Amino acid sequence: MSQFWKPGTERPQGRVVDDEEGGVLFLSGSHHSSSSSRYGYASIDKQRQRLPVFKYRTAILYLVETRATTIIVGETGSGKTTQIPQYLKEAGWAAGGRLIACTQPRRLAVQAVASRVAEEMGVKLGEEVGYTIRFEDVTKPDVTVLKFLTDGVLLREMMDDPLLTKYSVIMLDEAHERSISTDILLGLLKKIQRRRPELRLIISSATIEAKSMSDFFRMRKKRREPENEEHGLQVEPVILSVEGRGFNVQINYSEEPVQDYVQAAVSTVLLIHEREPAGDVLVFLTGQDDIDASVQLLNDEVQTTGKHSSGLIVLPLYSGLSRAEQELVFSQAPRGKRKVIISTNIAETSLTLEGIVYVVDSGFSKQRFYNPISDIENLVVAPISRASARQRAGRAGRVRPGKCYRLYTEEYFLNHMSNEGIPEIQRSSMVSCVIQLKALGIDNILGFDWPASPSTEAMIRALEILYSLRVLDDDAKLTSPTGFQVAEIPLDPMVSKMIIASSQLGCSEEIITIAAVLSVQSIWISGRGIQKESDEAKLRFAAAEGDHVTFLNVYKGFHQSGKSSQWCHKNYVNYHAMRKVLEVREQLKRIAKRIGLVLKSCESDMQVVRKAVTAGFFANACHLEEYSHNGMYKTLRGSQEVYIHPSSVLFRVNPKWVIYNSLVSTDRQYMRNVITIDPSCLLEAAPHFYQLQQSNHLLR
Ligand code: CDP
Ligand code: MG
Repeated sequence: MSQFWKPGTERPQGRVVDDEEGGVLFLSGSHHSSSSSRYGYASIDKQRQRLPVFKYRTAILYLVETRATTIIVGETGSGKTTQIPQYLKEAGWAAGGRLIACTQPRRLAVQAVASRVAEEMGVKLGEEVGYTIRFEDVTKPDVTVLKFLTDGVLLREMMDDPLLTKYSVIMLDEAHERSISTDILLGLLKKIQRRRPELRLIISSATIEAKSMSDFFRMRKKRREPENEEHGLQVEPVILSVEGRGFNVQINYSEEPVQDYVQAAVSTVLLIHEREPAGDVLVFLTGQDDIDASVQLLNDEVQTTGKHSSGLIVLPLYSGLSRAEQELVFSQAPRGKRKVIISTNIAETSLTLEGIVYVVDSGFSKQRFYNPISDIENLVVAPISRASARQRAGRAGRVRPGKCYRLYTEEYFLNHMSNEGIPEIQRSSMVSCVIQLKALGIDNILGFDWPASPSTEAMIRALEILYSLRVLDDDAKLTSPTGFQVAEIPLDPMVSKMIIASSQLGCSEEIITIAAVLSVQSIWISGRGIQKESDEAKLRFAAAEGDHVTFLNVYKGFHQSGKSSQWCHKNYVNYHAMRKVLEVREQLKRIAKRIGLVLKSCESDMQVVRKAVTAGFFANACHLEEYSHNGMYKTLRGSQEVYIHPSSVLFRVNPKWVIYNSLVSTDRQYMRNVITIDPSCLLEAAPHFYQLQQSNHLLR
């Protein structure tokens, strides 16, 4: 055990909202909520009444009745997400065929809370309580009244119903996360409220971010006075603080900076297990890779040493888990066993896990970063903010006083961590956002009422890319039909453009399969210890053209096997991922038909498949550096150094010209999902993009 722990000097965290600010309504409630849901035998009703938010039921309903916008702040686990929609339904907001919506930034959270609420209401999921995430709609028209959905899906629904007329109340949950879609929705809903004064908005958040939300809704663009007051509604938003913090959490810091947080997390869990009394452990790492690695390390430990680690049940938690795996995470550990959940920051505020007493915080999460100059968007492992660190620690204090182990020094926490995170909109590519706003008829995007303005550079870059994809015309309006078609497909505009091109090239069947595979995380089974076998299996499908065509081979094999799970197992193909591919594929075909595309197969002509990929992804073209001995490529646009990812079938093959689907950044920038191209196709696909001066170089 190389870790030395030092208790922190920061005072235990107090309440969330301070009541001195104007506009903050503060109601007192009792301090400790004895929420014990799955640990006691209380009936569902009793459990519900024990949640901190229950004391505010009347206040919440009163505010929603009298205010256009209500902002609710409350600690994770206080019952905001699962209870408030039910209160609204009980109070009649779902009468007369209207719906109550509750958005979440994360798909997994949508599924988990919807199934919890269905369980609490004693109904089957998909009936009165349903959910919608991209490519998965578990609702029933005229039956579903409580609908949980991702913020992205609600944004898409506006394309068919710009005023969201079927909803009586919309709850934008997890607003403190400041996801890109939530930010856009905030701007749009503020507009909608002027047209639909009867629409009620609830913004719920786990942190004080609420204050800036309230300022945003208070501030009117131009000098227009609120029309809502005529309807007897108050427009001034109110912040309601739900007091319900559980118990104190003792913070421990690492004495020395940590070199390898996976290893440090594993040692810390073992140390907790050895020395601390019963209570589950929640570990925050960053993504599937490091989570799977640490699960494996802990399980190895359980198997080899046995004595210290017996009694540990180690479970991963990240998006992309199957239903059964999700359920394990939420279920109670058998008597005498200690549950260890190793999670992404989904467990920071979106999901409540019962029974957690110890938190191990790596200090990192995966975050999106965008560089408008190079036009590169990356998911990178980056330090979290102090606000996040406090949230993570808070997860340890729900059942009784807990402990948090921070895998970083106190000095680092105090002097080097940023106070708050940056809204996602300020670190993302604006391409999808611009196209959606254009499709909603919002032309002046820079002048849009943003809760936080995106950068001008990112905006200009987005306009330029959409123009080169021929989605926008010279006046920056959506082109017809391409622009409108691209907007209708719920995928990245480059993928959508590839699909549209494939319809003209006669290979839409193939390209839709590729698009479906690209929309799941990975179709391969990987992991420590099976790398060699899985690489060999991959070779059976490998196509000289690259990963996209390899996917077609896998899909064909899967289809011919009768969609067999044994076949997948034998070939190191992820069966769940393939089922998802089938589903997405069906949905994409339906959308393609609706927007007038031709469904056709090109059989074995892979040349047209490459052309279609190029038509969408020409901006991601790269060429091998002539004298490079280590497989270095340069992007044609920004001359960025990139390499083929080891998971690609073209790894070490290093063809001269390639196009990538996405970049992952670790020690280097790696291209994931790569296909070889013919450079002359680039000029054909985007002559204006690869201008004349480049063409000599291209044809060299
Ligand atoms: O949204 P908020 O963080 O305020 O709380 P919530 O998600 O509504 O959770 C309220 C309570 O429901 C928690 O204390 C959990 O005990 C319980 N819950 C659960 O047991 N299983 C779930 N999948 C979701 C919530
Ligand atoms: Mg919640």
